[in-house]
Amino acid sequence: MQESRTTLADEVERGLGAAPDSQTLPCRFFYDEVGTLLFEEICELDEYYPTRSELQIIDNHADEMVRHASTVIELGSGSARKARILVDAALRGHETVDYLPVDISRKALELCRPLCDEFDRVTVTAIHGEYGPGLDTVREVTQEARSVFWLGGSIGNMDRRMAANFLSSVAGEFNDRDRLFVGIDLRKDQETLHRAYNDRSGVTAAFNLNLLSRINRELGGSFDLDQFRHVAVYDDDIGRIEMYLESTADQTVDLETPPRTFRFAAGQRICTEYSYKYSLREIETLAANASLEIGRRWFDNERRFTIHEFQRPQPERCVESRNAG
Ligand code: AVI
Repeated sequence: MQESRTTLADEVERGLGAAPDSQTLPCRFFYDEVGTLLFEEICELDEYYPTRSELQIIDNHADEMVRHASTVIELGSGSARKARILVDAALRGHETVDYLPVDISRKALELCRPLCDEFDRVTVTAIHGEYGPGLDTVREVTQEARSVFWLGGSIGNMDRRMAANFLSSVAGEFNDRDRLFVGIDLRKDQETLHRAYNDRSGVTAAFNLNLLSRINRELGGSFDLDQFRHVAVYDDDIGRIEMYLESTADQTVDLETPPRTFRFAAGQRICTEYSYKYSLREIETLAANASLEIGRRWFDNERRFTIHEFQRPQPERCVESRNAG
C-alpha cells in the first residue's frame, strides 16, 4: 500500500471543496500535539471502553502473543503502557528484544523511548510515519519470527475493503512464522457505542473540533468553534460510528493557505471519521478477503473487544487452539 502523502492543505481544499452533503476531512489529521493529548484523555474516559478492554486482553495474554518472537513491531504505537506489557512479556521468553514502534505522532513515539532505560535487554527503534513506513519496517526488519501488533481498534478507521487490503499487504511481507495481532472493536448494543463517542465531559467533542482549530493554526483558517458542533451517530446496518462537525449557522469560513472561502449552511456536516465495528463473521470475511488465516483469538470479559491473530495460510498445520475465553 502506498503511503498517502497529501498534506492538510490538500485535504482541506479537496474535502471542504466537495458538494455540501459530501464534505470530509481525514481522521489522520486529528493527531497533532493537542489532538494526541485529547485522544489520550479519551482513552481514560469511563465511556470509552475500547482501550480498557484491549488492555485487559493484553494483560491476560501478552505472553502467548509474543512467545515465539523476539522482534515486536507495533503499527501505531499508541500508549507506552501496552508496549511495556508486550516488551516485558517478550523478555520472559527471549534474551534480548527489539521493539519497533511506528507512529504518525512524534509525541506517541517519545513516550516509548524510555523503555530502553527501563529494560536493559531491549532495543527501541522508533519510526515516524504512517502505514507506508510501517510496511517498510515489516519488510526490512527480517528476523526468524516477528510479532506485528496493530492495536487500539485503528482498523476500524478504515473501510472494510481497505482494512483487508492493508492486512494483506502487511502479511505479504510475512514468512510463515510471523504473526499479526489486530485489536478489533466488536459490534455491540447501540447505547454503549453512542456513549463511547458522546462522552459527558465533552472530550470527544473537543478532539473532533480540534481539527478546525488545527486548520486555523496551520492554514490561517477563520473557523469559529462556537459555530460548529460535534455529532457522532451509530449506523447499525453498516456497523459504524460516523463522526461529523456540524455547522450551527449559515456562515462563511476563510482560509489563507490556500486562499479559499467555504460556505456552510446551518445543519451542514463535515464527515471527520468512521469507526467500523465487527461481528465475528465480519472478521472471518476480513481474513478471507485478505487471504489470511485466523489463528488464536482473545476477548475481554465483556466481549466488547477482541484481539485476533492473523497469519499466512499454513497448509500443513491445523489450528489447534481457539481461545475463546
Ligand atoms: C483511533 N480510533 C480507533 C478511535 C476510534 O474509536 O475510532 C478514534 C476515536 N474517535 C473518537 N474517539 C476515539
